[in-house]
Amino acid sequence: MSVEKFTAPDAAGAAEACAHRIFGLLEAAIAARGRASLAISGGSTPKLMFRKMASTPFAWECVHLFFVDERCVPPTDSASNYKMANENLIAAAHIPAANVHRILGEIAPAEAAERYAAEIREFFGLQAGEMPQFDIVHRGMGPDAHTASLFPGDPLIDDRAGIVAATFAKKFNQWRVTLLPGVLLAARNTVFLVAGEDKVAALRGVFHEKYDPMKFPSQIGNDGASVAWFLDEKAAVGLES
Ligand code: 6PG
Repeated sequence: MSVEKFTAPDAAGAAEACAHRIFGLLEAAIAARGRASLAISGGSTPKLMFRKMASTPFAWECVHLFFVDERCVPPTDSASNYKMANENLIAAAHIPAANVHRILGEIAPAEAAERYAAEIREFFGLQAGEMPQFDIVHRGMGPDAHTASLFPGDPLIDDRAGIVAATFAKKFNQWRVTLLPGVLLAARNTVFLVAGEDKVAALRGVFHEKYDPMKFPSQIGNDGASVAWFLDEKAAVGLES
């Protein structure tokens, strides 16, 4: 399966196209299984997409929303991915609270990771050693090619057995809780939304350098069954089509 790349003139266009793709994949999952599981990323780039999704009528009662990662801060903190998602998507779309599976950024990172893993195991009805298969995992990418909270050089990048872990993000001097590579690789569908000129070098590395996820964590799962990148022209400069 080749990796799809869609480049829009600007960040708003990339956000709109990614939102459209997510809705299509959600509809297919609901038609096939009666419900859909969507794991979303944080940072700043998704805000436009989340607002677009919140303004689009959809059967959110059939969608279970999970988080790809979280910063270990309270849900009221400006750095909280949950806060960003709640303000731009969850509240406006009236996603039922029971369908929102938040990472508890306000408690001890290791405990937050364990409780989130337990919630995922319960939701998917997993046996020991089984990996959850999200219908859609929405991922972003940092200027250093990190994805989720898997930063270059982090030993967790080689983990293929775990579901969730806590990790200390040195560059942000911050504890994070993140889904692990095994989960990203198991996703039925992966959509990346990446925009801005600060992502140019990392994108070139991900697509044009040899496979080395310890250096380019966003390469993880980039050869999966269904992977689509939604980019803006500023980010996609220098990418061979
Ligand atoms: C996070 C994210 C992270 C994000 C990248 C890109 O918690 O920060 O989940 O993986 O996707 O850092 O962030 P921007 O969109 O802000 O550039």
